[in-house]
Amino acid sequence: MLDCTELGVRYDALPAVRGVTLGVPSARIVCVLGPNGAGKSSLLGAISGQVRPVAGSIRFDGEAIEMLPPHAITARGIAHVPEGRMLFGDLSLRENLLLGAHNAGSLARAADRLDATLDAFPMLRSRLDEPAGMLSGGQAQMLALARGLMAAPKLILLDEPSLGLSPKATADVFRLVAALPARGVAVLLVEQNVRRALAVSGYAYLMRNGLFQAQGPAAELMRDPMVQDAYFGDLHAGE
Ligand SMILES: Nc1ncnc2c1ncn2[C@@H]1O[C@H](COP(=O)(O)OP(=O)(O)O)[C@@H](O)[C@H]1O
Ligand SMILES: [Mg+2]
Repeated sequence: MLDCTELGVRYDALPAVRGVTLGVPSARIVCVLGPNGAGKSSLLGAISGQVRPVAGSIRFDGEAIEMLPPHAITARGIAHVPEGRMLFGDLSLRENLLLGAHNAGSLARAADRLDATLDAFPMLRSRLDEPAGMLSGGQAQMLALARGLMAAPKLILLDEPSLGLSPKATADVFRLVAALPARGVAVLLVEQNVRRALAVSGYAYLMRNGLFQAQGPAAELMRDPMVQDAYFGDLHAGE
C-alpha cells in the first residue's frame, strides 16, 4: 500500500535520511526502530508531506505522493500523529478531535466519525468538554491517537507514541495500536521501545544515521543476537 524507494531527506547540508526503501502492506503494523537522531521523524515527515524529500519516490495505493502538500496526503488516507502529540491545550477534547476530521466534508460526517472513534476510547468520551491541557501524558497520547483516527486513515504514522509514558500508559497505547489492523488501519510505528514495538509489529526496520541497518520479520529480529546487542540495551539491564 505504501512504498518508499531510495528516499532522501536533508536539512541544508545535513543528510537526515539517506536512501531508504520501505514498504507497508494494508492493515499491517511495520515499525522503524533506532536511536535519537537516526532520521525516524524525518522519514515520517517526508511521507506525510511535512518535509519535501530531496531524492526517491513515495507511492501510496500506486499513486506518487512525494510532491503533494500535506492536506492532499491526508485526503488520500494517511494520518500523522507527530512526536510530542501537538495538542491544543486550551481547546476541549471534542474540539481537538474534530480538528482531526477536517477532511470529513460535513459536520454530520465529522460527528459520526467522533462517535465511532470514541467507542475505542471510553476515557475520552467521558471528558469531551474538558480542556486537553488537563490530561495526563498517557491520556494526551490517547487523544493524539484518536485525533489521528478522526481522519479515517488507511495508514497512520505514529511517532514515538510511548515516549515519556508510565509502564501502564505504555501498555494501554500498545494495546490500542495492536488493535488497529483489525479495524482496517495500517500502522507505520516509530519507536525507541524496541521490545514492545517488535511484539506488535509484523515487520521491522532498524535505522541509524539515516540508513536502514537491518530489516526483517519482527519475530526474527527479536531473536537476532546482533539486534539484541545493538538495540536491546534495556533488556540487558535486566528489565
Ligand atoms: N528541522 C530540522 N532542521 C535541521 N536539522 C534537523 C531538523 N529535524 C531534524 N534534524 C536533524 O536530522 C537528523 C535526524 O533527525 P530526526 O529525523 O528527528 O531523527 P529521530 O526522529 O530518529 O530522532 C538529526 O541529526 C537532527 O538533528
Ligand atoms: Mg524523532
